Amino acid sequence: MRFTPDFLDDLRMRLSLADYIGRRVRLTKKGREHSGLCPFHNEKTPSFTVNEEKGFYHCFGCGAHGDIIKFAMETEGVSFPEAIERLADEAGLALPAEKPGDRQEAAKRKGQYEVLETATSWFETQLRSDAAIGARDYLTRRGLSEATISAFRLGLAPNRRTYLRDSMTSRDITEPQLVETGLVIKPDDGGEAYDRFRDRIIFPIADVRGRVVAFGGRALGEARAKYLNSPETDLFHKGTMLYNMDKVRAAAREKDRLIVVEGYMDVIGLAQVGIKEAVAPLGTALTEQQIQQLWRSVPEPVLCFDGDNAGLRASRRAMERVLPLLKPGHSLRFAYLPAGEDPDSLVAANGAGAFEAVLEEAKPLIDVLWDTLLEQGSTDTPERRAGFRASLVDAARNIGDDTVRRFYMDDLGNRFKKMGQPAVTNQQAGNDRYSTRQDRPFRRGGRDFQPPVSAELLRTPLAQSTGEPSSRRDKMLVLAILNHPRLLDDLEEELFAVHFEGAELDKIHAAIIHIAVQCRADSINLESGTLKDHLRERGFADSLARMEADRSLLSDGFVRTNAPYEQALRGVRHLLDEHQLHAVQQELHQAEMEAADHTDKELLDRAALRIKALRDQIGELKGKIARHGEFPL
Ligand code: UTP
Ligand code: MN
Repeated sequence: MRFTPDFLDDLRMRLSLADYIGRRVRLTKKGREHSGLCPFHNEKTPSFTVNEEKGFYHCFGCGAHGDIIKFAMETEGVSFPEAIERLADEAGLALPAEKPGDRQEAAKRKGQYEVLETATSWFETQLRSDAAIGARDYLTRRGLSEATISAFRLGLAPNRRTYLRDSMTSRDITEPQLVETGLVIKPDDGGEAYDRFRDRIIFPIADVRGRVVAFGGRALGEARAKYLNSPETDLFHKGTMLYNMDKVRAAAREKDRLIVVEGYMDVIGLAQVGIKEAVAPLGTALTEQQIQQLWRSVPEPVLCFDGDNAGLRASRRAMERVLPLLKPGHSLRFAYLPAGEDPDSLVAANGAGAFEAVLEEAKPLIDVLWDTLLEQGSTDTPERRAGFRASLVDAARNIGDDTVRRFYMDDLGNRFKKMGQPAVTNQQAGNDRYSTRQDRPFRRGGRDFQPPVSAELLRTPLAQSTGEPSSRRDKMLVLAILNHPRLLDDLEEELFAVHFEGAELDKIHAAIIHIAVQCRADSINLESGTLKDHLRERGFADSLARMEADRSLLSDGFVRTNAPYEQALRGVRHLLDEHQLHAVQQELHQAEMEAADHTDKELLDRAALRIKALRDQIGELKGKIARHGEFPL
């Protein structure tokens, strides 16, 4: 196939679905959705909706449904490749065209993958040989099981100068091929070519599709460098890759969590104790491309740092790097290990629980930013407070995205205002009590450090994205739909349009809609069992199992499998109202903040109207929810 899934994803990501459709259909924005008159059937009232975030359009009237590519095909009457060509042109994305020489290039690459694969199995075989007893002992001492060693395809480069080279050339692999793939070094002075990796444990590094493209090697004996990596080659660009990214996707999606650690052994040590959703950069600080890659899996990856000074410095560098890249819903969290420990040593000594505890204390980016600036400045005189405030503004200016920047300005401003005021509650005390940095018992691990929590802060999406109550409500909603797919007919518009904050739930929701739409097209009555089967097939088996096993979700009768339909319907209506209340409250907060930025009279008036409308809507929703009355929730 000419178009890789990555290319298609890239294409979808670069184009705005609403803008694209908006050129053919007059769309009006309603909350998170756009709606208009359906271009696929004749209608007078709009039943066509566009969901930008999920990247699909859907018509409640005729059931038309699809993504931007399908829309282009249907409205322009072109084939799949033609639609792609037009869209790519629009996106300014070069088509993966077949140029003369491409075939040759492709053949060369294919050859390189084969060489690397052959070398990988050769290293694996070496580790299993009799002579490798010392290396195997070493891995056993480090707690690695046979299964872990095979899963990561660990190998051994024996302590001989040209062993790999000789073994490979005897298999019709040429010396230039070995040099090209970084396995062998050919000295400039024309001397004999020799193996790059000697007397080292070998860690194969695979691309996202699981093809080995490079190796890391850890010294077993005395060596100048503890770790040695393949050089940059045609296939290996270390700034764009993450170790274990190929294996991590399923685990990350399942747990809605992705952990970034420093080294190969950390990734493997964690996997050994069952924490399989970890990746590592390849001996460098995180690059922008790596951060974007992480965000494609989860919205808030957690970076782990040693709790010592070097770790703290590294975490600040990561913070500075990510500020310009932030976008709504996407951030990083920062976890700090006890000083001198890495994830591998921590779990080897204390088990998975110790590391989970560290993750639980992970700080949001805004806390790291605040703490860093507070530590750097002092606030014990008015002049210094003014300087500190200026440093907050300067830092927030680095944020590229307008909306996120405004939220940061707002949050940092609130924190600043509250500084030095008497603590209101224990919860809010935190560092407010300490006005000079000498007094502040600031601890990186966060164990003794409670960030101030203001009502305003709690209302921001950043804070809410980790909020339990809304995630419980959303899970209940999904579970009720799974048990009673008929709800999708009776509450069609509401249930199609609902947006979930948790990435996994949102994916499940999108999948449910696709399945429901498909069933309608095929005139199949969607049963609970069928819906669940389809979801399991689409890779949501574990999420489903977890939701179904979560007894806390069942405390409200209507979520149970055997609940009467009427009860489920009432329960879901109630949840939807609460869900909407939450969404409108967020919108209000956003509107209020935007209004604070306006100076223009006309803009201010318009903002005031919008705020009033939102407040009215909130009042109505609250009333409606109260009227659900004694409904047991
Ligand atoms: P560390 O020195 O922290 O090693 O390097 P580690 O991961 O704890 O390994 P063990 O436990 O001693 O076996 C972390 C990462 O930094 C890169 C490697 O990617 C390594 O995984 N590194 C380190 C190098 O590239 N070269 C080096 O010489 C050292
Ligand atoms: Mn280590």
